[in-house]
Amino acid sequence: MLAQKLAVVTGAARGLGLAVARDLAAAGCLVLMVGRNAEAIENAARELRAGGQQVVAHVADVTDAGAVAALAARLRREFGRADILVNNAGIFPERTDFAQPQAGSVFAVDPEAVAATYTANALAPLRLIQAIVPLMRENAWGRIVNVSSAMGQLSAMGGAWPGYRMSKAALNALTRLTAAELEASPVKINAVCPGWCRTEMGGKDAPRSADEGAKGIVWAALLPDDGPSGGFFRDGEAIEW
Ligand SMILES: NC(=O)c1ccc[n+]([C@@H]2O[C@H](COP(=O)([O-])OP(=O)(O)OC[C@H]3O[C@@H](n4cnc5c(N)ncnc54)[C@H](OP(=O)(O)O)[C@@H]3O)[C@@H](O)[C@H]2O)c1
Repeated sequence: MLAQKLAVVTGAARGLGLAVARDLAAAGCLVLMVGRNAEAIENAARELRAGGQQVVAHVADVTDAGAVAALAARLRREFGRADILVNNAGIFPERTDFAQPQAGSVFAVDPEAVAATYTANALAPLRLIQAIVPLMRENAWGRIVNVSSAMGQLSAMGGAWPGYRMSKAALNALTRLTAAELEASPVKINAVCPGWCRTEMGGKDAPRSADEGAKGIVWAALLPDDGPSGGFFRDGEAIEW
């Protein structure tokens, strides 16, 4: 890497976001760790700094338009750049026992919970892309990773959990349409499924660690100039939409 890259990782206080922030810092990036809980994000950043990594905490709720605008303003004012955006923050409020999918049925879900999930998992990434791509264009380089899920795959769509599934399908659509608009630019965008990982969201029965899940996200964040754009990947391999 020539100049040091500035990476923005949302939802970086724990789970996959924390692992991605750590790995991007280890790869030489300066990482802006974004979280909505001030104490949690500051503690996480302090721990990584104690390990010698270059990270800065930033408090923002990514569903808040004003907070996203303030984040972009800070990037411009303090760093003058933004090279990597990892849209990792996400929620799964209808989460329930995976052995009991009927509890998450289309016929039982609260549409308001679906709307809140869509706001966090699909609209917030859209807002962040709108706020940060102009900075990427200025430096003629950019990588965006939308952290998606196999639960958003239309090709493998099952029943239950409509809020989460619809929000990740929408995030995948956002990935495709942003890639189409960025086709002639040096900014790449891809969706990544980390696999089912042991985090607060994934639960303790998941087969993968957060560290394992983070690898495919970091791969997409550091793609070389001849790397893909507009794809959906797991562990660096293309998967079906
Ligand atoms: N774990 C899995 O098996 C799995 C599988 C496929 C995809 N994913 C995706 O991977 C991403 C990370 O998931 P995870 O498993 O690491 O989940 P997690 O442990 O629940 O962490 C999610 C993080 O996002 C933050 N966040 C949520 N809403 C936010 C908002 N509005 N503004 C700022 N931060 C917000 C949370 O902060 P708070 O503490 O404030 O809530 C938390 O730090 C998500 O997009 C998820 O959908 C996970």
